[in-house]
Amino acid sequence: MSDLKKIKEEFLEKLKGGLNLSEINEIKSNLFGKNGLISSQFKKIGSIAESERKKFASDLNIIKDELQDLIDRKMDEIQNAEINEKLEKEKIDITLPERTFVRGRIHPVSQTIDEISSIFSEIGFSVEEGPDVENEYNNFTALNTPDNHPARDMHDTFYLDEKKEKLLRTHTSPVQIRTMLKDNPPFKIIAPGRTYRSDSDQTHAPMFHQVEGLHIDKDINMGHLKGCLNYFIKEFFEIDKIKMRFRPSHFPFTEPSAEVDIGYKIKDGKIIIGEGDQWLEILGCGMVHPNVLKNVKVDPKKFQGYAFGIGIDRLAMLKYGINDLRAFFDCDYRWLNHFGFDPLDVPTNYRGLSR
Ligand code: DAH
Repeated sequence: MSDLKKIKEEFLEKLKGGLNLSEINEIKSNLFGKNGLISSQFKKIGSIAESERKKFASDLNIIKDELQDLIDRKMDEIQNAEINEKLEKEKIDITLPERTFVRGRIHPVSQTIDEISSIFSEIGFSVEEGPDVENEYNNFTALNTPDNHPARDMHDTFYLDEKKEKLLRTHTSPVQIRTMLKDNPPFKIIAPGRTYRSDSDQTHAPMFHQVEGLHIDKDINMGHLKGCLNYFIKEFFEIDKIKMRFRPSHFPFTEPSAEVDIGYKIKDGKIIIGEGDQWLEILGCGMVHPNVLKNVKVDPKKFQGYAFGIGIDRLAMLKYGINDLRAFFDCDYRWLNHFGFDPLDVPTNYRGLSR
């Protein structure tokens, strides 16, 4: 058998096997590469006897074209098979019915916390956080709350150990202590979060939410406190005028202390905030007691300021017309669907959070 015939026979034999793309490429370069079998036959042409040269060259060209053609076809075949396999594997059945999709709602408490944070951040307050499980020192002692204070009574506080050293924080005020211990004055922070007391009825839940405020600097006085709260309440309820009164009160960590009431009236069964002659208590506040400042190594002769604590749930109830506090924590999806907020709907007084 001539060389050419042999090359062809061998090639056809190889093609019969299940080749992949890299194997066929290898065959291709063995034949047509620089020193490939076919290429070297072409180099031989010159040395062939003249009488046979023409036929040899023509046979060679025919075989070359034939093999080239077979290789190209085989390659197409392999590539098509690969594509078909991929198509088969990645097939999407568009006849399947769509999955039901429920968009979540923002809980009114989360919404209210965002609104509060946004309003205070406009006037320079940053947002701090503290843990729900506190120690007795931060929650009471450092806040100038003596051992025999009623707030320490087992009745109100969830203690977590027999020694009463660990507890669920009863207010957000310990974040004042944490903030002042880790930094130097001035301080201008709010701290929203969960708080706990052993209490439950239509207006009290064992877990509720507060936002603490603290502003300590040189020459801060009660006028600043009034201005700040006045601004906040107007912004929060989206009203231009607010009736507000400071009633003397007592908190161990402030001196003087006050509770703030806002005026309201009921019209057509709806509560209208900011006018009328009824009063509603919404927060506690005062000038930070010098003992508290001493406890966190801040010199009360140089620095002073105000603090406040607002019940978030109460504010949310008032603003959004919710009358039972317990519904907040029932996790009833129908309730959330009604009172919750669309995550894509931006409220009018929301200016974005820089938390
Ligand atoms: N921590 C108080 C409470 O839970 C609220 C409060 C009152 C916070 C006066 C303050 C404040 O920062 O100055 O009842």
